[in-house]
Amino acid sequence: MSEMFHEPLTEAVLTEGFFAGHLPGTVGGDPWEHLARLRAIGPLAWNGSGGYWVVSHHREVQQASTDPTRFCSRQGILTFEIGHTYPSPPTMMHTDPPDHTRYRGLVAPAFRPSAMRALQPRLEAHVRRLLDSIPNDQAVDIVHHLTMPFPLLVICELLGVPAQEWEKFYLWSEISIPGATDHTAEERLVIQAEMVGYLLAAVAAKKADAGDDVFSLLAAAGLTDFEIAMFAVQLLTAGNETVRNTMSSGLVALANDPEQWQRLRNDRSLVPLAAEEMLRWSSSVIYFMRTAVHDTELGGTLLSAGDHVALVYASANRDEAVFGPTAGQFDIGRSPNPHLAFGFGTHYCIGAALAREEISVVLNEMLDRYSVLRPSGPVERTKSAIIAGIHRADLAVAR
Ligand code: HEM
Repeated sequence: MSEMFHEPLTEAVLTEGFFAGHLPGTVGGDPWEHLARLRAIGPLAWNGSGGYWVVSHHREVQQASTDPTRFCSRQGILTFEIGHTYPSPPTMMHTDPPDHTRYRGLVAPAFRPSAMRALQPRLEAHVRRLLDSIPNDQAVDIVHHLTMPFPLLVICELLGVPAQEWEKFYLWSEISIPGATDHTAEERLVIQAEMVGYLLAAVAAKKADAGDDVFSLLAAAGLTDFEIAMFAVQLLTAGNETVRNTMSSGLVALANDPEQWQRLRNDRSLVPLAAEEMLRWSSSVIYFMRTAVHDTELGGTLLSAGDHVALVYASANRDEAVFGPTAGQFDIGRSPNPHLAFGFGTHYCIGAALAREEISVVLNEMLDRYSVLRPSGPVERTKSAIIAGIHRADLAVAR
């Protein structure tokens, strides 16, 4: 075993609310400092009370994501799933080849980059409508006005459910993420049952009335109800929490750094790089887990079959060995930027092209309208240790 922690550093970082800013006991303060200390110890560190290894270096996070015959997903992807077994996989992310290959092949074509680029005019129309509701030069919660509704509207459209249902989808998607809301476990179960019932009915309705949406695709695929629910819930949640928080965090970073906003205004060709930097900077998925299939070695540590490894994308994305001395700085011109915000390898995010398109559309539409983007109030972060979330961010924009 490599070095053990004698303070509950990893446990606190991964279980007590990574971005809450109020980490307990000996672990107060800035979560990024904790991750830097973690990286200084080495690529892997053992979390004794959680019973898993924490992988903090870019290289090892990438390695463990690459070969599912060595590190699998079927034993859970979140640390609280350790020891749980499921009658059927709750998401595609909980599967390995060959099942995973078959499942992914079903939905991946609907998210191919060319199809996502073709969405641009519709995405622009959504963003324009939302920006129209934002008053000039006044404090507004950018989450409420823009970054929360926008990805939800898009996902409703892609799945093929009425866009006016987006507020319902918001609640459903929130309660699917542990720590994202104050609902009790019992309340979450009730709401989740309602969500699954709605989604199954929505897919079933497509059997009679098919369109060119993802639910019609699922309806025609001959899947069981469990499998349909698995896809529908995942596509609903994966496609908006992540995009919302990346945009919120990236816009806060830009608002706090007027020089970079100006630089982007002066050179629009930087928008794609800025979008990548927002993804790296926010690392909205903090970690996912894998389990060693057989005895193996990772980053110089010998692991036994059944050992769990938490792959901390948020740490890998600030790894100085890859991003150099400016790893801790927000730089919209960063290139190359091999961030792992979308994971890596077998389960690489299906929605990456959509997310990139959404972020770029928001940036371009805002740059078209506003010369000023500045902070104008509090930024409230969620307590989830899985999704780096922002509940509220007061910013002001001016023409
Ligand atoms: C900024 C936005 C996003 C981020 C940071 C993000 C992050 C991730 C990460 C880290 C994974 C890897 C999971 C693993 O290795 O176990 C993943 C997978 C996935 N993402 Fe995303 N995601 C984003 C947007 C989206 C969108 C817009 C969708 C589509 C609606 C989506 C759907 C999925 C699906 C279905 C998977 C599972 C892929 C598989 O198991 O093969 N994501 N995402």
